[in-house]
Amino acid sequence: MARTEFIATGFFVPPRVVTNDDLSVLMDTSDEWITQRTGIKERRWVEPGTTCSSLAAEATRMALAQAGLKAADLDCIIFATASPDHFFPGNGCFLQRLLGVTDIPALDVRDQCTGFLYGLSVADAWVRCGQYKRVLLVGAEIQSPGLDPTTEGRDTAVIFGDGAGVAILGPTDDPKRGVLSTHLFSDGRQAEKLWMDGPGLSHVPWISAEMLADGKARIKMEGREVFKHATTKMPESVKLALQANGCTMSDVKLLIAHQANLRISEMVQRQLELRDDQIFNNIQKYGNTTAASIPIALHEAVCDGRLERGELLILTAFGSGFTWGSAAVRW
Ligand code: ACO
Repeated sequence: MARTEFIATGFFVPPRVVTNDDLSVLMDTSDEWITQRTGIKERRWVEPGTTCSSLAAEATRMALAQAGLKAADLDCIIFATASPDHFFPGNGCFLQRLLGVTDIPALDVRDQCTGFLYGLSVADAWVRCGQYKRVLLVGAEIQSPGLDPTTEGRDTAVIFGDGAGVAILGPTDDPKRGVLSTHLFSDGRQAEKLWMDGPGLSHVPWISAEMLADGKARIKMEGREVFKHATTKMPESVKLALQANGCTMSDVKLLIAHQANLRISEMVQRQLELRDDQIFNNIQKYGNTTAASIPIALHEAVCDGRLERGELLILTAFGSGFTWGSAAVRW
């Protein structure tokens, strides 16, 4: 049975660098507080009018060039994002148009920080059953326009950044390579602990000036609750991935966790007793790019020579929903 391989990766971040010191001019914060609590030193923010699908298109062009493919060679788009360009249709359709292709299916995945793993699981199923052979999997966000860059919004404004990461996936018969497993979870009871309440059709009216004034259209996060659940659920899902494939921590060449907060990643590393050379973090440079964080980190890790073909890669993520999960890949 064919497995799903990563044919190529790509990423794109907007050129505008926003440092912690830049933020301390806008709000009552400091490089010291941000660094100590999140590990973030800078992040990228888009210029006004930039679309999430346009960031994804740039990252896709990098991956297509790496693979020696044209956009017309793609037969499916899966776009994981919490940053829709419009209420609908989804970003996948806008990306399809930007790539100059038509007819191929475009699926948007709304699982926030775990979106790339949810999308990988769907892509893997479609590739293994032979439905598609060149799937473009995207994780992309533009979060900066939705942040409150004042002292009022500082608890989340210092965390999130903009960016896009992609992978091109297809079948491989190489028994030593490919996606081995994906494990996905959610817990809707925790929805309001990390969410954006509006706009939404549960409200009457579904969008209003009051909603904006009341901060309902901003990310609300119970930070300590997120920390507690993230540092429990991600290690659990990593252990499941290893058990499912008869592997141990010592077999892991590289673990890439969703770049939520460096403190979370370090706690996960400690709990899994992984060496520093077995993990990859780049939140210091990009902040938390939600669904884009894993593919951006994956691309950079591969470019840095941290992963050779056939070695065991573990991906894990936790996010709004709550959602969480893991993937095991023979790279
Ligand atoms: N600069 C300075 N002070 C701040 C800032 C800031 N940017 N943000 C909050 N504070 C203040 C608060 O006002 C509060 O002050 P007070 O005690 O005088 O009221 C104090 O810092 C502590 O506030 P908390 O929100 O309790 O801060 P905490 O110590 O919990 O740290 C943080 C906040 C870093 C978010 C922490 O809760 C955490 O690490 N949470 C993990 C969740 C996370 O990082 N999520 C990322 C996105 S979600 C995801 O990707 C899964």
